[in-house]
Amino acid sequence: MTLDFPAGPAPAPFFGENRTATLIEDLATKGWAHATGALPGDLVTSLRDRLEVLFEEGELARARIGRGETETRANSIRQTEIAWLTGEHPAERQFLGGTEALRLEINRALFAGLFEFEAHFARYPAGGHYARHLDAFADRPRDRIVSLVAWLNADWQDGDGGELDVWTGPDDHGHPVATLAPRGGDLLLMMSETIPHAVRATAVPRLGLAGWFRVNPGVGGVLDPAA
Ligand code: OGA
Ligand code: MN
Repeated sequence: MTLDFPAGPAPAPFFGENRTATLIEDLATKGWAHATGALPGDLVTSLRDRLEVLFEEGELARARIGRGETETRANSIRQTEIAWLTGEHPAERQFLGGTEALRLEINRALFAGLFEFEAHFARYPAGGHYARHLDAFADRPRDRIVSLVAWLNADWQDGDGGELDVWTGPDDHGHPVATLAPRGGDLLLMMSETIPHAVRATAVPRLGLAGWFRVNPGVGGVLDPAA
């Protein structure tokens, strides 16, 4: 789902100028950036409540990994249920305000030319995981440029699993450079074409949001054609 941010008051950033600058500098130099406690606590709670309602009402759909993949193969790579943000709910609008502020800052600092953002809620059931992958491929029309992940888990414990592993680039098959617990309010940015990542199997339901800053609009009106 692609959204135009509605006209109105300037979108409220998740955090102040210095932290935003550090985050963007990390993204530019390392290809990824992690911020703990990035989303305000009340926003994390209201987004989590929203995701739980969507789940309980059966509004989440099994995520696909790409066109032409069989269901069986998809399950072995990615086991998640998702719902695209529509901006209809106030918590979604507040979140999209923060990502819009971030988009403008990334463009200002890196001349990135990002012009839209799309995001979905994601719920991994117990046992769910997501195998190592890139979010975009440089040999396809450039669309996803910067990936954003934000987690919504209330009280993540060691042993719950579900950590996100990050590698430095497509050729790095060594140990991950970072292994991040999906704690509520923490945020991760990654360059979509170059930073491989994976979600380890989670022992408990795991809640979050994944989104992409893009340079191209959806192709032929079909949103997210390759995923
Ligand atoms: C994705 C992804 C990470 C996460 O949806 O592409 O990598 O923590 N998500 O859910
Ligand atoms: Mn990903």
